[in-house]
Amino acid sequence: MSEELNKEIARRRTFAIISHPDAGKTTLTEKLLLFGGAIHVAGAVKSNKIKKTATSDWMEIEKQRGISVATSVMGFNYKDYKINILDTPGHQDFAEDTFRTLTAVDSVIIVVDVAKGVETQTRRLMEVCRMRKTPVIIFVNKLDREGRDPFDILDELEQELKISVRPLSWPINIGEKFKGVYNIYERGLDLFTPSKQTVSERIEIEDVNSPVVDELVGDDDAAKLREDLELIEGVYPEFDKEDYLRGEVAPVFFGSALNTFGVKELLDCFCEIAPAPLPIEAEERRVCPEEENFTGFVFKIHANMDPNHRSCIAFVKICSGKFERNVNYRHVRHNKMMKFSAPTAFMAQKKSIVDEAFPGDIVGIPDTGNFKIGDTLTAGEELHFKGLPSFSPEMFKYLENADPMKAKQLDKGISQLMDEGVAQMFVNQFNGRKIIGTVGQLQFEVIQYRLLHEYGAQCRWEPISLYKACWIESDDEEALAAFKKRKYQFMAKDKDGRDVFMADSGYVLQMAQSDFPKIKFHFASEY
Ligand code: G4P
Repeated sequence: MSEELNKEIARRRTFAIISHPDAGKTTLTEKLLLFGGAIHVAGAVKSNKIKKTATSDWMEIEKQRGISVATSVMGFNYKDYKINILDTPGHQDFAEDTFRTLTAVDSVIIVVDVAKGVETQTRRLMEVCRMRKTPVIIFVNKLDREGRDPFDILDELEQELKISVRPLSWPINIGEKFKGVYNIYERGLDLFTPSKQTVSERIEIEDVNSPVVDELVGDDDAAKLREDLELIEGVYPEFDKEDYLRGEVAPVFFGSALNTFGVKELLDCFCEIAPAPLPIEAEERRVCPEEENFTGFVFKIHANMDPNHRSCIAFVKICSGKFERNVNYRHVRHNKMMKFSAPTAFMAQKKSIVDEAFPGDIVGIPDTGNFKIGDTLTAGEELHFKGLPSFSPEMFKYLENADPMKAKQLDKGISQLMDEGVAQMFVNQFNGRKIIGTVGQLQFEVIQYRLLHEYGAQCRWEPISLYKACWIESDDEEALAAFKKRKYQFMAKDKDGRDVFMADSGYVLQMAQSDFPKIKFHFASEY
């Protein structure tokens, strides 16, 4: 084990910010980048968002709809830490993309709007975090606006996100009367002055009963603060970092991202408690970041960022060892050695070629169709990282060729788009028809658009009434054969040739489950 490697691993924090659209994810990301000196003016992230859409053809769709289809990586240095933020698309139609991004992070920050509380998208993303036991910190945002009682918010977080919470900061009033937050973790008072650029001065408060607090926030608010803190100490157990790291307790911070308020506290605490890169399970064994040999996996493929070069970028998460430019690595699925002359890193929103990268880092590798989501790269070892599940899609349509002269282009296009993870394809074993499953309507439009613009193929969608795709298995071969025979019209294969039962209603699925107790039904492809 080299010392350099250990040092680099220990200082890395790779995480994603997730939220329901409009809760303030972009604003918070931007403020974090400001602290890291990665950008110098507020607004840079947003304007970058717009620029990206303007320079990329197929993202015309997102421009029209004003949503961010793209997810990217932002790296920056803060104090001694190297921080990698993996951006996730806010739009729910791209939830699958976000799920996969969550497989490449070591922890998560959830942003919740104080007025709106927990919203649908947050609930679903939290399910994935729970499944993977990802440590979570919650930032309750927009305290400068009228919102809900903080205790109510805490109750809702616990109930809706099914995780214990522990406030580490506490607001003094809210909305127009918002005066600041008391930092329970560091015992300090931060007084609020609305500002988009500057950070308020921290006032150290050893004892919250000190008359200084009354002077600073007024008698009534000081009394309320003391009362609240007493209640917190009574109700919530002492914060235990280990509970957080196990994904059992989520520390909660309050603030206002737009006013850069509470953000530094969040970032400081995050650096201190959030995990450095963790070991990752492969099918063969557990891989530790400190291992000498490089390993990594592709968690995302991003197409056509630059319309002049119609290639893709495969995003590789480094899991162990040092990754180096121009060194031969094994592409395990193809069983061939490849070296990469232009791997890029993402620092301060700028892409630049890097010579080396360490566990926790993400490198972008220009790709012309060699990679699929989930592919493993190693220094030579036969290894397959797991845990990139596909979830049952929510919407299904038959894919039809609308231009018989371009059947080949359609086949190639659809297969590449599926490799990129844009949607999932199932082939019905009874009639051979291709069924595309997505999380939202928008993906059908993206596929149609990209097939035409990138592959010159035209497709048509035909309706199909399906409820869920269930991956099935059984220890009992006979039972499996009997099930497949009975449901032959509804049996399909997924991209890896696995058996999938396409249930057309919740009732049918329920009946199938009770009629065939020996069959296991899974709603995600990893089981
Ligand atoms: P998202 O990425 O989660 O979708 O949210 P985003 O940061 O884009 O924020 C959504 C809206 O909420 C933005 O307003 C943003 O300015 C506002 N916002 C974020 N944090 C705070 C906060 O702490 N307090 C208040 N009052 N507002 C906040 P917008 O009008 O949609 O966009 P813009 O025109 O201001 O950029």
